[in-house]
Amino acid sequence: MNFQNKTVVVTGANGGMGKVITRRFLEKGARVAALDLDVDALEELDKEYEGQFMRCSANLTNEEEVSEAVDEASNFLGDISILVNALGMAQAATNIDELDLAEWNKLMAVNTTSLFLINKEVVKVMKAKGVGAITNIASIAAERPRPGLNAYVTSKGGAIAFTKALAIELAEFKIRVNAINPGPSDTSMLAKFSPRGGNVEKMKEETFKLSVPLGELVRPDDIAEAVMYLSSDEARMVTGSVLNVDGGRGL
Ligand SMILES: NC(=O)c1ccc[n+]([C@@H]2O[C@H](COP(=O)([O-])OP(=O)(O)OC[C@H]3O[C@@H](n4cnc5c(N)ncnc54)[C@H](O)[C@@H]3O)[C@@H](O)[C@H]2O)c1
Repeated sequence: MNFQNKTVVVTGANGGMGKVITRRFLEKGARVAALDLDVDALEELDKEYEGQFMRCSANLTNEEEVSEAVDEASNFLGDISILVNALGMAQAATNIDELDLAEWNKLMAVNTTSLFLINKEVVKVMKAKGVGAITNIASIAAERPRPGLNAYVTSKGGAIAFTKALAIELAEFKIRVNAINPGPSDTSMLAKFSPRGGNVEKMKEETFKLSVPLGELVRPDDIAEAVMYLSSDEARMVTGSVLNVDGGRGL
């Protein structure tokens, strides 16, 4: 797969998966704009990939900040051929009768509405060029929920439905839109799904790992591999797909 001269925006680029995805595109010769709430920790990439990499801090649930960040990214990149949305937030397992509206709204904003805002701005740039590949990272939890993740599961169901809605709408512009459903993955997010005050390490070993038929947690590298495929020219006829990278958790 060749990514030389491809122009890539990665959101959630400072996250467990986002960091690996960002680095993978850079290693393959793409030019990358990395967006996240705080991108200070990505400073090391500035020197290593000078001229090939830029980073921008933005709250991607805020319409103005999204618009400014995408402007900055497309000015640096010239255009945008690939978008990967790896931003997101977990929900601490909470019974529905104890869940606040504010918490519900926050999960919808970060996991679903942000996708609307980012895709809207990036698609404007992609349409002008008549090409594009978008990958939204959802979750296998949308198909195989766990108790107490009511808002998270709904927000990821929204991400999958939105992906399909865009895939059909944007096909005529040769813009492909796909989703990945990770299973329980070895990033700092995983611990945040435990009930507040729960034993995180115990839950990781006894709940999450044991729920994966292949017997291990998904690694950020596994997700990056899937992202590379879906973003590549080799996937030219793949759109509206949801790829489970979950070790069989969805079975
Ligand atoms: N880790 C898992 O077990 C798991 C499982 C299934 C799906 N996922 C999904 O995979 C994606 C990546 O998760 P991860 O494990 O790398 O999590 P992570 O917490 O390491 O990374 C998420 C990133 O999103 C960023 N972010 C959050 N809100 C933002 C906002 N408003 N504006 C800009 N950036 C924002 C965070 O700063 C963080 O860097 C997420 O969508 C997550 O829901 C994760």
